[in-house]
Amino acid sequence: MQRRGLVVGNWKMHGSTAFAADLARAVADGSRSLTGVDIALCPPHVMLGVVGAELRGSEVALGAQTVSEFSEGAYTGETAASMLADLACSFVIVGHSERRQLFGETSEVVAAKASTALAAGLVPIICVGEVLEDRQNGATNAIVAAQLRPFLESQGKDVLRQAVIAYEPVWAIGTGETASPEQAQAVHHFIRSTVAGVDQATADSIRILYGGSVKPDNAPDLFRMTDIDGGLIGGAALKADDFLRICGSTQPS
Ligand code: PGA
Repeated sequence: MQRRGLVVGNWKMHGSTAFAADLARAVADGSRSLTGVDIALCPPHVMLGVVGAELRGSEVALGAQTVSEFSEGAYTGETAASMLADLACSFVIVGHSERRQLFGETSEVVAAKASTALAAGLVPIICVGEVLEDRQNGATNAIVAAQLRPFLESQGKDVLRQAVIAYEPVWAIGTGETASPEQAQAVHHFIRSTVAGVDQATADSIRILYGGSVKPDNAPDLFRMTDIDGGLIGGAALKADDFLRICGSTQPS
C-alpha cells in the first residue's frame, strides 16, 4: 500500500523568536513547490504561536516536541495536549530519546502522553530506538518492541491508526552517523510486523519515520526503502534549504 511521505522538523531547544519566524516562513514558502509529502515543524513550545502564524495559509503543519501526560491541573511548567491543539498543533513528538534519557520518561509515561495527545485530536509521533550497546548485543528488536509495547497495549485499533512511529537509533542522533538504509529498513520492517500483531490494516497504513543524522545527501536512499515513510529531522531542520531538500526526497524521482 502507498503511504504518503511525512517529514517532521524537530528544532529541539534552538533559536529565538526571530530565527523561528524566518525559518518557518522560508519552509512555508519553499514547500509550495512540493507535492505528495506532508511536512510539519516542531519548534520549542514558547515559539509555537510565532511559528503557527507564519505557517497559516500554507500546507505545513505545526507540532510540538513533548506534551504532559495529564490533561489539566496543578502541574507547574507542563503543557496540556488541549493547549497544543488550541495553538493549532496537529502533531506532537513523544518519547524522543532525549526525553527518555535526560528526563527519565519511561515507555509507560510515553504511552500515557500518546494517549493524552490522541484524546485531544493530536497525532503523536512515538519515538523508539536503541543505544549502541543494545545494537552491539543484538538487542535492537527487543528494545524497540519493549518501548512500543505499553503504547500498543493501551490503544484500540481505531486510535492506533492515527499515530506515527519514529525509529531513531540513539547512536545516530546528532552524531553524523546514520543507520544504513538496510539497517533502518530491517528495524522499520520489524516495527511494522509488531504493529501487525495488533492489527494488519494499521500496520499497512501507519507511517514509520526514520530519524538520526538525516541530511539532504542520505535522505533519498533512506526514503526509498519499503518501510521508511519519511523522516524526523533534527540538525538539518534548522536550515530551510537542507530541510526542504529532505522533504523533496520523499517524492519519486
Ligand atoms: P538529528 O536529530 O537529525 O540531528 O540526528 C534527529 C532527532 O533527534 O530527532
